[in-house]
Amino acid sequence: MTGASGRTALVTGASRGIGRAVAERLAAEGAYVVVHYGSRKDAAEETVAAIRRSGGQAFALRAELGVDGDVDTLFAGLEEALAGRPLDILVNNAAFIDYGATIDAVTPDAYERQFATNVRAPLFVTQRALRLMTDGGRIINISSGVTWFATPEIVYAMTKGALNVFSRSLARTLGPRGITVNTVSPGITGTDMNDWLRDPDATRRVAGMTALGRPGEPADIGDVVAFLASDDARWITGQTIEVNGGLYLGPQ
Ligand SMILES: NC(=O)c1ccc[n+]([C@@H]2O[C@H](COP(=O)([O-])OP(=O)(O)OC[C@H]3O[C@@H](n4cnc5c(N)ncnc54)[C@H](OP(=O)(O)O)[C@@H]3O)[C@@H](O)[C@H]2O)c1
Repeated sequence: MTGASGRTALVTGASRGIGRAVAERLAAEGAYVVVHYGSRKDAAEETVAAIRRSGGQAFALRAELGVDGDVDTLFAGLEEALAGRPLDILVNNAAFIDYGATIDAVTPDAYERQFATNVRAPLFVTQRALRLMTDGGRIINISSGVTWFATPEIVYAMTKGALNVFSRSLARTLGPRGITVNTVSPGITGTDMNDWLRDPDATRRVAGMTALGRPGEPADIGDVVAFLASDDARWITGQTIEVNGGLYLGPQ
Protein backbone atom coordinates (compact mmCIF):
# COMPACT_ATOMS: atom_id res chain seq x y z
CA MET A 1 0.00 0.00 0.00
CA THR A 2 1.30 3.44 -0.86
CA GLY A 3 1.54 5.02 2.60
CA ALA A 4 0.97 8.46 4.05
CA SER A 5 4.61 9.52 4.25
CA GLY A 6 5.01 13.29 4.44
CA ARG A 7 1.26 13.89 4.64
CA THR A 8 -0.70 15.53 7.43
CA ALA A 9 -3.86 14.17 9.04
CA LEU A 10 -6.50 15.36 11.48
CA VAL A 11 -8.31 12.53 13.25
CA THR A 12 -11.16 13.68 15.47
CA GLY A 13 -11.76 11.64 18.60
CA ALA A 14 -8.33 10.02 18.40
CA SER A 15 -7.70 9.73 22.13
CA ARG A 16 -9.43 6.36 22.41
CA GLY A 17 -11.01 3.47 20.52
CA ILE A 18 -11.31 3.53 16.76
CA GLY A 19 -9.89 7.05 16.39
CA ARG A 20 -6.77 6.05 18.27
CA ALA A 21 -6.29 3.02 16.01
CA VAL A 22 -6.71 5.25 12.94
CA ALA A 23 -4.18 7.76 14.28
CA GLU A 24 -1.66 5.04 15.10
CA ARG A 25 -1.97 3.40 11.71
CA LEU A 26 -1.70 6.69 9.76
CA ALA A 27 1.34 7.65 11.85
CA ALA A 28 2.89 4.23 11.17
CA GLU A 29 2.44 4.98 7.45
CA GLY A 30 4.46 8.16 7.96
CA ALA A 31 1.76 10.83 8.41
CA TYR A 32 2.04 13.67 10.89
CA VAL A 33 -1.16 13.13 12.87
CA VAL A 34 -3.13 15.67 14.86
CA VAL A 35 -4.77 13.65 17.65
CA HIS A 36 -7.95 15.51 18.52
CA TYR A 37 -9.85 14.82 21.76
CA GLY A 38 -12.71 16.28 23.78
CA SER A 39 -11.93 15.88 27.46
CA ARG A 40 -9.65 12.87 28.05
CA LYS A 41 -6.28 14.64 27.95
CA ASP A 42 -4.64 11.62 29.59
CA ALA A 43 -5.84 9.31 26.84
CA ALA A 44 -4.82 11.73 24.07
CA GLU A 45 -1.36 12.13 25.56
CA GLU A 46 -1.05 8.36 25.80
CA THR A 47 -1.96 8.05 22.10
CA VAL A 48 0.63 10.66 21.15
CA ALA A 49 3.25 8.98 23.35
CA ALA A 50 2.53 5.57 21.77
CA ILE A 51 2.91 7.06 18.28
CA ARG A 52 6.19 8.75 19.20
CA ARG A 53 7.54 5.56 20.83
CA SER A 54 6.98 3.85 17.48
CA GLY A 55 8.92 6.58 15.68
CA GLY A 56 5.89 8.53 14.42
CA GLN A 57 4.90 12.17 14.69
CA ALA A 58 1.76 13.38 16.47
CA PHE A 59 0.31 16.37 18.28
CA ALA A 60 -2.61 16.35 20.79
CA LEU A 61 -5.34 18.94 20.31
CA ARG A 62 -8.32 19.55 22.58
CA ALA A 63 -11.65 20.93 21.36
CA GLU A 64 -15.03 19.91 22.67
CA LEU A 65 -17.29 19.40 19.65
CA GLY A 66 -21.00 20.13 19.55
CA VAL A 67 -20.71 23.37 21.54
CA ASP A 68 -20.59 27.03 20.45
CA GLY A 69 -17.20 27.98 19.02
CA ASP A 70 -16.08 24.33 18.66
CA VAL A 71 -14.81 24.68 15.10
CA ASP A 72 -12.95 27.93 15.86
CA THR A 73 -11.19 26.29 18.82
CA LEU A 74 -10.28 23.22 16.78
CA PHE A 75 -8.88 25.18 13.84
CA ALA A 76 -6.93 27.63 15.97
CA GLY A 77 -5.09 24.61 17.39
CA LEU A 78 -4.89 22.80 14.08
CA GLU A 79 -3.31 25.74 12.27
CA GLU A 80 -0.74 26.04 15.03
CA ALA A 81 0.01 22.31 14.80
CA LEU A 82 0.34 22.40 11.00
CA ALA A 83 2.55 25.50 11.08
CA GLY A 84 1.72 26.50 7.50
CA ARG A 85 1.52 23.01 6.03
CA PRO A 86 -1.66 21.98 4.20
CA LEU A 87 -4.01 19.29 5.49
CA ASP A 88 -4.03 16.09 3.43
CA ILE A 89 -6.33 13.73 5.36
CA LEU A 90 -9.41 14.44 7.50
CA VAL A 91 -11.05 11.64 9.49
CA ASN A 92 -14.35 12.66 11.08
CA ASN A 93 -14.51 10.03 13.80
CA ALA A 94 -15.55 11.74 17.08
CA ALA A 95 -19.11 10.90 18.11
CA PHE A 96 -21.04 9.56 21.05
CA ILE A 97 -24.04 7.34 21.60
CA ASP A 98 -26.74 8.36 24.06
CA TYR A 99 -28.21 5.04 25.18
CA GLY A 100 -31.12 6.96 26.74
CA ALA A 101 -32.19 8.57 23.45
CA THR A 102 -34.86 6.01 22.57
CA ILE A 103 -38.23 6.83 21.05
CA ASP A 104 -39.86 6.73 24.52
CA ALA A 105 -37.31 8.79 26.40
CA VAL A 106 -35.50 11.18 24.06
CA THR A 107 -35.88 14.90 24.80
CA PRO A 108 -35.33 17.79 22.40
CA ASP A 109 -32.14 18.72 24.30
CA ALA A 110 -30.74 15.20 24.05
CA TYR A 111 -31.59 15.15 20.34
CA GLU A 112 -29.84 18.49 19.76
CA ARG A 113 -26.73 17.43 21.69
CA GLN A 114 -26.28 14.25 19.70
CA PHE A 115 -26.86 15.91 16.33
CA ALA A 116 -24.54 18.78 17.29
CA THR A 117 -21.63 16.41 17.96
CA ASN A 118 -22.26 13.64 15.45
CA VAL A 119 -23.55 15.65 12.46
CA ARG A 120 -23.16 19.43 12.82
CA ALA A 121 -19.53 19.16 13.93
CA PRO A 122 -18.35 16.95 11.02
CA LEU A 123 -20.15 19.25 8.56
CA PHE A 124 -18.53 22.45 9.81
CA VAL A 125 -15.16 20.82 10.56
CA THR A 126 -15.11 19.69 6.94
CA GLN A 127 -16.14 23.13 5.70
CA ARG A 128 -13.16 24.71 7.49
CA ALA A 129 -10.79 21.85 6.65
CA LEU A 130 -11.42 22.36 2.94
CA ARG A 131 -9.66 25.73 3.13
CA LEU A 132 -6.51 23.97 4.34
CA MET A 133 -6.81 20.82 2.27
CA THR A 134 -4.72 20.06 -0.77
CA ASP A 135 -6.40 19.01 -4.02
CA GLY A 136 -6.20 15.22 -4.04
CA GLY A 137 -6.88 15.09 -0.30
CA ARG A 138 -8.88 12.48 1.55
CA ILE A 139 -11.96 12.72 3.75
CA ILE A 140 -13.17 9.67 5.64
CA ASN A 141 -16.30 9.78 7.79
CA ILE A 142 -16.93 7.14 10.42
CA SER A 143 -20.54 6.04 10.35
CA SER A 144 -22.10 2.85 11.73
CA GLY A 145 -23.92 -0.34 10.81
CA VAL A 146 -26.93 1.10 12.65
CA THR A 147 -27.73 2.84 9.37
CA TRP A 148 -28.91 -0.54 8.03
CA PHE A 149 -29.81 -2.61 11.12
CA ALA A 150 -32.43 -1.59 13.67
CA THR A 151 -31.48 -0.38 17.14
CA PRO A 152 -33.38 1.16 20.08
CA GLU A 153 -30.88 4.08 20.10
CA ILE A 154 -32.86 5.77 17.39
CA VAL A 155 -31.26 9.23 17.54
CA TYR A 156 -27.74 7.81 17.27
CA ALA A 157 -28.85 5.80 14.21
CA MET A 158 -30.38 8.95 12.68
CA THR A 159 -27.12 10.88 13.14
CA LYS A 160 -25.17 8.18 11.34
CA GLY A 161 -27.71 8.07 8.52
CA ALA A 162 -27.19 11.80 8.08
CA LEU A 163 -23.42 11.27 7.90
CA ASN A 164 -23.82 8.70 5.11
CA VAL A 165 -25.88 11.15 3.07
CA PHE A 166 -23.39 13.94 3.79
CA SER A 167 -20.49 11.83 2.47
CA ARG A 168 -22.18 10.89 -0.76
CA SER A 169 -23.12 14.41 -1.80
CA LEU A 170 -19.79 15.82 -0.64
CA ALA A 171 -17.93 13.28 -2.78
CA ARG A 172 -19.77 14.59 -5.84
CA THR A 173 -19.06 18.20 -4.96
CA LEU A 174 -15.35 17.67 -4.30
CA GLY A 175 -14.61 15.42 -7.28
CA PRO A 176 -13.26 18.29 -9.40
CA ARG A 177 -10.62 18.92 -6.72
CA GLY A 178 -9.59 15.26 -6.75
CA ILE A 179 -10.60 14.95 -3.10
CA THR A 180 -12.16 11.58 -2.27
CA VAL A 181 -14.86 11.27 0.37
CA ASN A 182 -15.77 7.88 1.75
CA THR A 183 -17.60 6.45 4.72
CA VAL A 184 -16.35 3.62 6.88
CA SER A 185 -19.19 1.87 8.68
CA PRO A 186 -17.95 -0.27 11.57
CA GLY A 187 -19.94 -3.11 13.07
CA ILE A 188 -19.83 -3.91 16.78
CA THR A 189 -16.32 -3.02 17.90
CA GLY A 190 -14.69 -3.32 21.33
CA THR A 191 -14.23 0.25 22.59
CA ASP A 192 -15.37 2.33 25.58
CA MET A 193 -18.53 3.19 23.62
CA ASN A 194 -19.48 -0.49 23.86
CA ASP A 195 -18.39 -1.21 27.41
CA TRP A 196 -21.24 -3.75 27.62
CA LEU A 197 -19.05 -5.94 25.39
CA ARG A 198 -16.76 -6.54 28.39
CA ASP A 199 -19.35 -9.05 29.58
CA PRO A 200 -18.22 -12.42 28.15
CA ASP A 201 -21.86 -13.38 27.42
CA ALA A 202 -22.28 -10.25 25.28
CA THR A 203 -19.05 -11.02 23.43
CA ARG A 204 -20.30 -14.54 22.71
CA ARG A 205 -23.64 -13.20 21.45
CA VAL A 206 -21.92 -10.74 19.10
CA ALA A 207 -19.50 -13.45 17.92
CA GLY A 208 -22.52 -15.62 17.06
CA MET A 209 -24.01 -12.87 14.87
CA THR A 210 -20.71 -12.31 13.03
CA ALA A 211 -19.50 -14.53 10.17
CA LEU A 212 -15.86 -14.19 11.25
CA GLY A 213 -16.80 -15.17 14.80
CA ARG A 214 -15.76 -12.25 17.03
CA PRO A 215 -16.52 -8.58 17.71
CA GLY A 216 -14.39 -6.04 15.84
CA GLU A 217 -11.24 -4.50 17.24
CA PRO A 218 -10.28 -0.87 16.67
CA ALA A 219 -7.36 -1.83 14.40
CA ASP A 220 -9.78 -3.74 12.11
CA ILE A 221 -11.32 -0.36 11.34
CA GLY A 222 -8.13 1.74 11.45
CA ASP A 223 -6.48 -0.37 8.77
CA VAL A 224 -9.35 0.20 6.33
CA VAL A 225 -9.35 3.94 7.00
CA ALA A 226 -5.61 3.99 6.26
CA PHE A 227 -6.26 2.19 2.97
CA LEU A 228 -8.90 4.77 1.97
CA ALA A 229 -6.42 7.50 2.86
CA SER A 230 -3.72 5.96 0.70
CA ASP A 231 -2.97 6.48 -2.97
CA ASP A 232 -4.11 2.90 -3.64
CA ALA A 233 -7.70 4.04 -2.95
CA ARG A 234 -7.51 6.97 -5.40
CA TRP A 235 -10.39 5.64 -7.56
CA ILE A 236 -12.82 5.08 -4.67
CA THR A 237 -15.13 7.96 -3.75
CA GLY A 238 -18.68 8.39 -2.53
CA GLN A 239 -18.75 4.85 -1.10
CA THR A 240 -19.73 3.37 2.23
CA ILE A 241 -17.52 0.45 3.23
CA GLU A 242 -19.03 -1.90 5.82
CA VAL A 243 -16.20 -3.11 8.06
CA ASN A 244 -17.83 -5.61 10.38
CA GLY A 245 -16.54 -9.17 9.95
CA GLY A 246 -19.80 -10.20 8.26
CA LEU A 247 -22.28 -8.93 10.85
CA TYR A 248 -25.86 -10.25 10.45
CA LEU A 249 -25.11 -12.12 7.21
CA GLY A 250 -27.67 -14.70 8.26
CA PRO A 251 -28.01 -17.77 10.49
CA GLN A 252 -25.12 -20.26 10.62
N1 LIG B 1 -17.48 1.01 18.84
C1 LIG B 1 -18.37 0.61 17.95
O1 LIG B 1 -18.88 -0.52 18.00
C2 LIG B 1 -18.77 1.50 16.82
C3 LIG B 1 -19.62 0.94 15.85
C4 LIG B 1 -19.99 1.73 14.78
C5 LIG B 1 -19.54 3.01 14.69
N2 LIG B 1 -18.73 3.54 15.66
C6 LIG B 1 -18.28 4.91 15.47
O2 LIG B 1 -16.86 4.94 15.54
C7 LIG B 1 -16.43 6.22 16.03
C8 LIG B 1 -15.51 6.02 17.21
O3 LIG B 1 -16.21 5.31 18.22
P1 LIG B 1 -15.47 4.57 19.43
O4 LIG B 1 -16.24 3.34 19.67
O5 LIG B 1 -14.01 4.52 19.19
O6 LIG B 1 -15.82 5.60 20.61
P2 LIG B 1 -15.06 5.95 21.99
O7 LIG B 1 -14.12 4.85 22.36
O8 LIG B 1 -16.15 6.33 22.92
O9 LIG B 1 -14.19 7.25 21.62
C9 LIG B 1 -14.85 8.41 21.23
C10 LIG B 1 -13.84 9.47 20.84
O10 LIG B 1 -14.57 10.64 20.40
C11 LIG B 1 -14.24 11.74 21.23
N3 LIG B 1 -15.46 12.52 21.45
C12 LIG B 1 -16.70 12.06 21.75
N4 LIG B 1 -17.55 13.08 21.91
C13 LIG B 1 -16.83 14.22 21.71
C14 LIG B 1 -17.14 15.61 21.77
N5 LIG B 1 -18.37 16.06 22.06
N6 LIG B 1 -16.14 16.49 21.53
C15 LIG B 1 -14.90 16.06 21.23
N7 LIG B 1 -14.54 14.77 21.19
C16 LIG B 1 -15.50 13.86 21.43
C17 LIG B 1 -13.70 11.15 22.52
O11 LIG B 1 -12.82 12.09 23.15
P3 LIG B 1 -12.44 11.97 24.74
O12 LIG B 1 -11.51 10.80 24.85
O13 LIG B 1 -11.76 13.23 25.07
O14 LIG B 1 -13.71 11.74 25.47
C18 LIG B 1 -12.98 9.91 21.99
O15 LIG B 1 -11.72 10.26 21.47
C19 LIG B 1 -17.71 6.98 16.36
O16 LIG B 1 -18.05 7.79 15.26
C20 LIG B 1 -18.74 5.89 16.53
O17 LIG B 1 -20.04 6.35 16.32
C21 LIG B 1 -18.34 2.80 16.72
